[in-house]
Amino acid sequence: MFIEKKKKILFKFKNNKPIVCLTSYTAPIAKIADKYADLVLVGDSVGTVLYDLNSTREVNLEMMIRHGKAVVKNINRAITVIDMPYGTYENDKSLAYENAKRIVTETGADAVKLEGGEKIYKTVSFLINKGINVMGHIGLQPQSIHGSYKVYGKKKCEQTQILKDLFFLEDAGVFSVVIECTIQNLVKEVIKNSKVPIIGIGATSECNGQILVAEDLLGLTQFDSKFLKKFENLKLRISKAFNNFSKDVKNRKYPQKKNYYK
Ligand code: KIV
Repeated sequence: MFIEKKKKILFKFKNNKPIVCLTSYTAPIAKIADKYADLVLVGDSVGTVLYDLNSTREVNLEMMIRHGKAVVKNINRAITVIDMPYGTYENDKSLAYENAKRIVTETGADAVKLEGGEKIYKTVSFLINKGINVMGHIGLQPQSIHGSYKVYGKKKCEQTQILKDLFFLEDAGVFSVVIECTIQNLVKEVIKNSKVPIIGIGATSECNGQILVAEDLLGLTQFDSKFLKKFENLKLRISKAFNNFSKDVKNRKYPQKKNYYK
């Protein structure tokens, strides 16, 4: 099943059609995302977006599995990927495998995503050799930062590291890599050197695909960044709807007779 999906996405990549990726944490968003996305990610951004946590580091395995189940159940077309949360894979490859196995077996997802490259090479290889499909994540890695987000690739050492991370991940056998908040020249280098589809977030339109957090592009979160385009202002729309509901309740205009049970 996954091989088929993997072939499909690689086919799109070969045809140079940009790969559309969206995050989803819930059943209703998953159902809509599945109509438009080639890949749906249950990102650990669920922690900051839905639970108002300070960082993705506070997200745990149970949270990812719970949201993963709700999403995967409602996806028919897209590849489904679930983030492995902070602390569940970095230091022990056997533990990483136990956790990754739980994620894919309990949710039915096609793959997991891990942040890092060179440092987690052995773990990623181990997971892939054991039959777990892995997506990489390089450039800005939210699980590793303390404080505000920054743009990657301005320093020579960052440029070297990002390319190294890419090579390590490809050698381990990842099927795709997310690159986050990285400068254009370095993204060009990454694209030139990559054998797998590169999915960008804040990393230029040269990437093979793009991903955004659904709630960010819908204008539902406070998050703002140069790279973010808000395709909708749901906050305003929801506010209007709640205001109308409130007015109708106060004026006894809702419910109407047609809403009654007889
Ligand atoms: O957690 C997440 O939503 C992500 C995407 C931003 C790529 O990792």
